[in-house]
Amino acid sequence: MGVLKRYGKYLPVSEKTPSVNLEEGSTPLVRLDRIGGELGIELWAKLEGCNPSGSFKDRGMVLAVAKALEDGSRAFVCASTGNTSASAAAYAAHVGAPCYVLLPSGKVALGKLAQALIYGARVIAVGGNFDRALEMAREAAELKKIAMVNSVNPYRIISQKTGAWEICEALGQAPDLHVIPVGNAGNISAYWAGYRDFNVWGRSAVLPRMIGIQAEGAAPLATGKPCPNPETVATAIRIGNPVSAKTAIEAVSQSGGFFETVTDGEILNAQKALAERGGIFAEPASCTTLAALVKLAAAKKLPQGAKTVIVLTGNGLKDPDAAISQVEPPVKIGDSLEELLEVMA
Ligand code: F0G
Repeated sequence: MGVLKRYGKYLPVSEKTPSVNLEEGSTPLVRLDRIGGELGIELWAKLEGCNPSGSFKDRGMVLAVAKALEDGSRAFVCASTGNTSASAAAYAAHVGAPCYVLLPSGKVALGKLAQALIYGARVIAVGGNFDRALEMAREAAELKKIAMVNSVNPYRIISQKTGAWEICEALGQAPDLHVIPVGNAGNISAYWAGYRDFNVWGRSAVLPRMIGIQAEGAAPLATGKPCPNPETVATAIRIGNPVSAKTAIEAVSQSGGFFETVTDGEILNAQKALAERGGIFAEPASCTTLAALVKLAAAKKLPQGAKTVIVLTGNGLKDPDAAISQVEPPVKIGDSLEELLEVMA
């Protein structure tokens, strides 16, 4: 029914807020018994790739766009590693407003670029990394007086809390462990705030330990050091200077959790495992979560039987190149039945 309808009571919306709805949210929470069994945990995956633009960004974008319209903005701008731009472009198209998106040139997965372009956004390839593009977008938003819809926009984070609320409602309470990729660090901050809401409202006695995962080549929070030249196959989280660093560090420390890193090789292995043994195709950034669980299990650091949720933040179809790079090409045959039977033997 859309995030603003399902959770409007708990969000800053009033009768003056335009109703914006692409039927985002209410995504599946899928139990993965094959993989969970191998890891010795009760494993659940939140399929955020099932949102209308294929990532979790839609949860926050719907409120950011609705509030911007309420406040009189008529155009939007964002910088993005790909998913924010796809989401912003989709909602701008839906409400009939222009949208400018700044992307780090050559570093955005093909599907995400296709989305921003086909939704009709003005796509600008910046000759710098995401962190620089974000600074530029912030300055341009101020000068041109248009709405900035990155997660520096507080409505994004407020509305992304709905992911945690949905998990608590589906499981009856919060899980023991919440495992989530960390890039600009907004989503981990939002989930922790959402879990705390349910705790304060008396709807979950449990608060999860928050485990934030970064790629080894883009791990400013996990290492505690700035990362001026981030690099990883998980382009969505190729970020060296996270805007929400402070709240992400608080989420991890208040919850008794930790940050963990995984290599590009571990990410791609996890992507394949998730597809082959779970039936779920998620983009590389999302697969950092399973990669970390595999790493922790091997080090005997995973509490056995723990109820664990991984947030699969984006759809695998967004980055076909990453998937194709690690699988065998199709078996080629002619058009005879004999050849077919032979390869099926
Ligand atoms: N997973 C995916 C698929 C993402 O696209 C992002 C962020 C994250 C995880 C990390 O979330 O930034 O809240 O810590 N993508 C942003 C973008 C930066 O521009 O699409 P975060």
